[in-house]
Amino acid sequence: MLSRWKALAVVVAAVAVVAAACGQGLVPPPAVVPPGDPSVAALLGDDRRDKLEDRIATGARPWSRWVSWGEELFYNGFVEDPPVGPKPSPRISVFYTCANCHNTAREDPVLTDQNPEARFQYIQSRPGMFMTQGTTMWGAVNRESFYNGYYALYHDLCVPDPTTETQTANGGPNEQGQCAPGTRKMDPKSLEDATQVCSGYCSVGRYLVRWELDAMMAYFWSLELHLSDLGLSPDDEQSVRETLLPSPRDPRRAAEARAQLRSRFLLAAGDTARTVPEVSRLPGGGYAVGPYPDGQSFTGDPGRGGPLYARSCAHCHGTAIYPVSGGPLAGDVNRFFQMLAKGTSESNAAYMPEFTYQRLSRQQSADILAYLLRLLREGR
Ligand code: HEC
Ligand code: HEC
Repeated sequence: MLSRWKALAVVVAAVAVVAAACGQGLVPPPAVVPPGDPSVAALLGDDRRDKLEDRIATGARPWSRWVSWGEELFYNGFVEDPPVGPKPSPRISVFYTCANCHNTAREDPVLTDQNPEARFQYIQSRPGMFMTQGTTMWGAVNRESFYNGYYALYHDLCVPDPTTETQTANGGPNEQGQCAPGTRKMDPKSLEDATQVCSGYCSVGRYLVRWELDAMMAYFWSLELHLSDLGLSPDDEQSVRETLLPSPRDPRRAAEARAQLRSRFLLAAGDTARTVPEVSRLPGGGYAVGPYPDGQSFTGDPGRGGPLYARSCAHCHGTAIYPVSGGPLAGDVNRFFQMLAKGTSESNAAYMPEFTYQRLSRQQSADILAYLLRLLREGR
């Protein structure tokens, strides 16, 4: 896997052919915060947002502008009218925008449970949301560590040190695992570092310069959690408000209230790698998917697979990113599961990121396969 990143370190930024179509049709879903709903960070005594605002928001560049520059970067990969440098600003990646792999709204009904079955139910009626390989950026500022579980291997990747207005080249690591001069290993507890890693590597792009990173952070703060998102009972909510607002008085009660808040949302996205299952043909056509190492097998339902394909695959397949739509993706059943579990490691092209179990269930993968096989049989 890390060999992918070694190859990406030398990625060419010159291939502009697919750029125009990346992220096609992806638009941010509307965000609604009820008035008087305190932010979870404020309740936890976390002042990072205020510090950022104090540092970057000045008369001609108010906070709201930074938020919209960040949203533009996230959804379009560049900014039409940036605060620094040429207009428009250079693209982060010629292949991907962040929105190809991350939602920006709530995706899980129970915030502490990254369950792709419940997620699909939840997003199905919500426009602009997908079953993406990456975790939603909604609530990312409230998380405390990044690239966990299987993705901990990204902790070896490098970020600029420091981030300035001058572009730093992707810094490796080299064969010995060392970062190039001007870069250092990422800090798994830093959202800024996690963002630099995904801009430089996951996006097959480049690191953000200072204003871009500030804008992205301002945008992420606009997606922070609020008290009402945590689903506390009205009594518990009232007691949290009384204990922590306008500022905490009783240290013991404040600690308890904050522990309660922290138990209600995702502190760290966990990711568990998929295994490639055995696949065998069933007598009546179709396939039995399994057994997986735990002995379980799955039979796909093409009726469920259609809507799943539309939300999990079609936003990349069927666009210029990788225009193999529908049936042909199931042309080789083993390759299909190989791609879901391992993805690919293209060095200078859009690659296919793997889906961990937190992002797509085993049943869902069998359902998508059944749907694609039906398209193949129908000659589509
Ligand atoms: C091709 C897919 C892809 C693209 C494009 C992409 N990401 Fe990611 N990103 C991932 C995956 C996969 C992960 C690891 C899984 C996860 O989110 O927990 C990840 C993780 C992250 C994380 C850490 C999340 C966490 O809780 O651990 C951040 C922050 C992030 N990405 C920001 C961005 C930004 C900003 C962009 C655009 C500049 C971007 N990503 C583009 C796939 C992508
Ligand atoms: C973020 C973009 C993205 C998403 C989402 C995505 N793919 Fe891919 N996929 C790619 C790219 C890019 C390739 C080409 C990779 C290569 O061959 O180097 C690819 C290749 C594949 C291939 C191999 C096709 C061949 O050449 O034989 C299969 C199979 C596949 N994807 C299945 C899926 C399925 C199923 C889903 C949904 C569950 C999905 N992909 C979602 C980007 C994506």
